[in-house]
Amino acid sequence: MNNFTFWSPTKFVFGKDTETRTGELVKEFSGKKVLIVYGGGSVVRSGLLERVKKSLDEQGMNHIELSGIKPNPTDDRVYEGIELARNEGIDFILAVGGGSVIDTAKGIACGVLYDGDFWDFYCGKKIVEKALPVGVVLTIPAAGSEGSGNSVITKLDGLVKLSLRTESALRPKFAVMNPELTFTLPPYQTACGIVDMMAHIIERYFSTTPECEITDRVSEGVLKAIMAEAPKVMESPCDYDARANIMWSGTLAHNGVCGTGRVEDWASHFIEHELSALYDVAHGAGLAVTVPAWMTYVAAINPSKGAQFAERVLGIERCAGDSDHDMALKGIACLKDFFRSIGMPVTMEELGIKNADIDALVKNLHLHKGELIGGYVKLSAADTKKIYQLMA
Ligand code: NZQ
Ligand code: ZN
Repeated sequence: MNNFTFWSPTKFVFGKDTETRTGELVKEFSGKKVLIVYGGGSVVRSGLLERVKKSLDEQGMNHIELSGIKPNPTDDRVYEGIELARNEGIDFILAVGGGSVIDTAKGIACGVLYDGDFWDFYCGKKIVEKALPVGVVLTIPAAGSEGSGNSVITKLDGLVKLSLRTESALRPKFAVMNPELTFTLPPYQTACGIVDMMAHIIERYFSTTPECEITDRVSEGVLKAIMAEAPKVMESPCDYDARANIMWSGTLAHNGVCGTGRVEDWASHFIEHELSALYDVAHGAGLAVTVPAWMTYVAAINPSKGAQFAERVLGIERCAGDSDHDMALKGIACLKDFFRSIGMPVTMEELGIKNADIDALVKNLHLHKGELIGGYVKLSAADTKKIYQLMA
């Protein structure tokens, strides 16, 4: 196991009616004038926004709004939010929504206190040293942004989707997580979230660092719980306990605990981010296509972790004569069946992308992420081209 620092200071307030505590939590973290960021209207329709505003009013807090953040959020809304926050003297950013809203809130939070272009942080020119505090009321378990220091934004000029990773500066101060808020999620979004959280663990599980038994076992446990709870939420969207288990899994999948002490991979995410940048598909659905193709490709080079995944996570028994490669392939078939069972695509065509421009995807990928990507197997442009071909 490698040395590591695990820093996860977010205060998670989990359970029924917890959104009524939002005002109290903003106050605890010294917010006085709040910018509420939200998406295309689900929080208005559900009445959540009104309840959050009431909770802020009860604490005597001023608040203004930035609405209409779209999935795969773009830099134009971040610039708009930075200007608004500066003009209005905002000292706290409150994201009410999912990953797209939270990531926009984080972009605004670091941009407001920086003299230059906030994009400098995303393209790696500058490191975030300070940011306004961010709080979250989560409405979709998926991206894990409520417990991560990361933010993913697409620059409209050139459709460049980049992730900014910070150790602590952009970790939310608090995350309100009421599973009831997820009852209104459409099945497709629920399933996208399930795939995304599984992918966040798989990116960390496929590691060449030896002797990480505890991190492996934590990862396997969370993956098994997700796969057991997933059919329940798909079948009964208002099953509180199933929604609660899925919601907390989404946070554990991405707050860093499943990666402690080892080198992580992240090739599948980089490969997918090019897809969602170019074709504006839902990130989780893109991953349902990417992850099995990536697993298939790396199984031919290093099948050991794929075999362990098949045995320990999916419960596939090794038959006499089965090699690690055989086991890995059986696992991949089983994972694809699972994704299909919750209504996810497993090919680009099923995702709605016909005749994808694979050369452009590969070119952008290595332009943005370097010559070689991935921690488990280092992939060149020739390798990633074959992975995109497997996805077709
Ligand atoms: O905009 P509204 O009307 O709110 O609708 C949203 C949106 O259309 C809807 N929704 C959310 N909660 C709902 C709901 N509909 C009904 N009831 C509710 N309770 O769901 C749709 C998707 O929302 P979005 O925020 O885009 O979903 P998600 O949380 O999956 O976020 C995806 C974004 O996060 C990035 C992805 O790349 C993508 O841009 N990621 C961020 C990460 C991070 N910051 O750490 C890591 C991830 O790997 C990921 O890359
Ligand atoms: Zn993801």
